[in-house]
Amino acid sequence: MEKSQTYNDVVVRQFAIMTVVWGIVGMLVGVIIAAQLLWPALNFDIPWLTYSRLRPLHTNAVIFAFGGSALIGASYYVVQRTCHVRLFLDRLAAFTFWGWQLVIVLAAVTLPLGYTQGKEYAELIWPIDILIAVVWIAYAVVYFGTLFTRRVSHIYVANWFFAAFILTIAILHIVNSLAIPVTLGLSYPIYAGVVDAMVQWWYGHNAVGFFLTAGFLGMMYYFVPKQAGRPVYSYRLSVVHFWSLIAIYMWAGPHHLHYTTLPDWAQSLGMVFSLILLAPSWGGMINGMMTLSGAWHKLRTDPILKFLIVSLSFYGMSTFEGPMMSIKTVNALSHYTDWTIGHVHSGALGWVAMVSIGTMYALIPKVFGRESMYSIKWIDLHFWISTIGVVLYIAAMWIAGVMQGLMWRAVNADGTLTYTFMESLKATYPYYAVRLLGGILFLSGMVIMAFNVYMTVRSGEKNAVQPVVEPA
Ligand code: HEM
Ligand code: HEM
Repeated sequence: MEKSQTYNDVVVRQFAIMTVVWGIVGMLVGVIIAAQLLWPALNFDIPWLTYSRLRPLHTNAVIFAFGGSALIGASYYVVQRTCHVRLFLDRLAAFTFWGWQLVIVLAAVTLPLGYTQGKEYAELIWPIDILIAVVWIAYAVVYFGTLFTRRVSHIYVANWFFAAFILTIAILHIVNSLAIPVTLGLSYPIYAGVVDAMVQWWYGHNAVGFFLTAGFLGMMYYFVPKQAGRPVYSYRLSVVHFWSLIAIYMWAGPHHLHYTTLPDWAQSLGMVFSLILLAPSWGGMINGMMTLSGAWHKLRTDPILKFLIVSLSFYGMSTFEGPMMSIKTVNALSHYTDWTIGHVHSGALGWVAMVSIGTMYALIPKVFGRESMYSIKWIDLHFWISTIGVVLYIAAMWIAGVMQGLMWRAVNADGTLTYTFMESLKATYPYYAVRLLGGILFLSGMVIMAFNVYMTVRSGEKNAVQPVVEPA
């Protein structure tokens, strides 16, 4: 069979395997920093093991290495199947894989060494930023090239979300990273003061909206219907969901800068758009969940579907919580506390990680020429361990966060503070222990997954080829 008549699954296989590998690495670093918050001596007085350096390593590893590999791999899988055509330019696709891995390795070396731009989620130094831009543009060429050479006129909705994710991340990354280099490891942003902060959180929030949300919604719109064996509940709702989500997300960034020197009207604008964001977010969640109408019984026997549907529940939860936290008076309590960390991980572990795990379990056997994963029982075990892990993590952080906020604002009749900061820290300790336990459970689930994937790959076909399905 000619190459052009088969799907390019080589690159999908590579990204899928690395999703599991980077998931374990990133979450292991998460567990280490969670332990350091409990026992600070765990940095052993070694600079590159300090919390300040490992924390950005954790966020970069889980978001860009684990999440990024899952997203790029899944988008390559989905775009070929829905466009009935092989991926555009094999070599460029291979470049996106190796280029992305190089970015990750460079990040893993430079961050512990202390090289950073000091911008959250955009810490990497300017030479790596340039490499990211080049790889990302190559990714866009491969993805849109495939889309433009499609053999059906319709563009399936999953691709709309992937396309918005790719385009927006390119713009966000380039605009937020504009800087004047001084040395190889040092640069100054071209923005100053509050403008710099605004650009940074325009980037930061849309990284949440487009990296951690839109791309994963692309996964959801393909893999939930596939796994449930039902069409999307409402195609019309998915189109409304898409346009409203991308139109509203752009304006919500200032909710990260409440009570700062950012003009008050901009803060209020951010708050209002965040509140409106609840509607499209829940529209998407409901659309995903209702796709199961008539197939709810499958949840009993299919742990992959469990991962996908529970991830949607966490998506719904975090997108309800986010708008609440964006209300200025609520944010006055939640900001700087572990409530934010709880919110982050209900989105990051509950939604992002679980939808990725479900997707990988659905996709890996297909690209390795097998019917299903090596062990369905292990998937079920993984599901329960990780669900308990997330719940422990986020419940601990919610309680700790609200407690911290209340302790910090408590005043005595004479106007002095009721509690010292140390008292609030001491009160937080038990919750840090529960969070650590939750993290260890989630990580253990990933190790079970790695073993399951290893057994699947070993007994599968390492060079499996699937013919391009003729359009109906
Ligand atoms: C085993 C699983 C995980 C553990 C134990 C863990 C632990 C942690 C810890 C201890 C922090 C620092 C909190 C602080 O500074 O107070 C953190 C921050 C963060 N983690 Fe995780 N994490 C895990 C998985 C993930 C995943 C899968 C993602 C994303 C997909 C993620 C995204 C983040 C982000 C974005 C932050 C920064 C939050 C902020 O600045 O508000 N984490 N994590
Ligand atoms: C309607 C949707 C959402 C809204 C309106 C929203 C709103 C918010 C608000 C108000 C904060 C606290 C800002 C602060 O006090 O500094 C926050 C933090 C955060 N949210 Fe959300 N959120 C939403 C969904 C999500 C989802 C689905 C995820 C992850 C997948 C997520 C990830 C984060 C992260 C990583 C932070 C911490 C940023 C930082 O300070 O480092 N959010 N969000």
